[in-house]
Amino acid sequence: LRPAEQDRIEAPEQARPRDMKFVTTLSDLSAERERLRRAGRSVAFVPTMGALHEGHLSLVRLAAKSESTVVVSIFVNPTQFAPNEDFTRYPRDVERDRALLEKEPVDLLFAPAPEEIYPKGFRSTVHIAELTETMEGAVRPGHFDGVATVVARLFGLVRPDVAVFGRKDGQQCAVIARLVEDLAIPVRLLFGETVREKDGLALSSRNAYLSPGDRRRAPALYRGLSAGLEAWRRGALEAEQITQTARAAAPEIAASEWDYLVVADAGTMQPVASVERAAMLAGAVRLGDTRLIDNVILEA
Ligand code: PAF
Repeated sequence: LRPAEQDRIEAPEQARPRDMKFVTTLSDLSAERERLRRAGRSVAFVPTMGALHEGHLSLVRLAAKSESTVVVSIFVNPTQFAPNEDFTRYPRDVERDRALLEKEPVDLLFAPAPEEIYPKGFRSTVHIAELTETMEGAVRPGHFDGVATVVARLFGLVRPDVAVFGRKDGQQCAVIARLVEDLAIPVRLLFGETVREKDGLALSSRNAYLSPGDRRRAPALYRGLSAGLEAWRRGALEAEQITQTARAAAPEIAASEWDYLVVADAGTMQPVASVERAAMLAGAVRLGDTRLIDNVILEA
């Protein structure tokens, strides 16, 4: 989770909008990519599933800081959703997202149809062992195969020099760092800080599903994680003590609503009984029909 490149980069300010091009096909993307290669431009890439919010825009601004041409993709990836999950109701509004990105430092928006990403005859799956078997991977079997496969394919198509992901999906960041390392993909990863509402709730496209009552309870997730972090800062090393403190600080969340609350090694994503090295305190809750995830890093 902590390759040197991801380390603190100052909060990105708003950079000036660029004249954003919009492409949907592999052939148009490839023509643009070739043009950039000839011009000697480096490319910073922000893959997204759309339904953009300030969290995504902060990743775009972080990408722009690298002085590269900024490419954003919008693709709601079917293979990372299980059949019982929210693929069909996942919010989609490419025109709205496009209008938002036009005001940001984005040079190229790639919004392919599913057939472009998974053409007839597509047969590959990228599976990353171990890191994907805990937490999100345990609750959502197959999820990270879908993520790793689409990210590997998007990297192959966009050929970025830099790629930017959000730390809210902490396990996803670790999985992608492993993917890049194992497959020797020549890309530098940057991980952007989680952007939060004033009450602490991490921005997420899924927050839109929360009922008003659940929206009021939702900040308890980050409050609990922050209390766990504080307990660790005050000297608690045992995972049990850290997670108990976290749960106690989030009384609005019933025991049955927690999918998990785990202290995991920041590199391997395996649960640890006590914090010896950098670790992540990660939690997932189900409030009504909505699943929320969040995490904090316990690092010296
Ligand atoms: O984090 C996301 O939005 C998705 O998992 C990603 C990385 C765009 C792959 O579909």
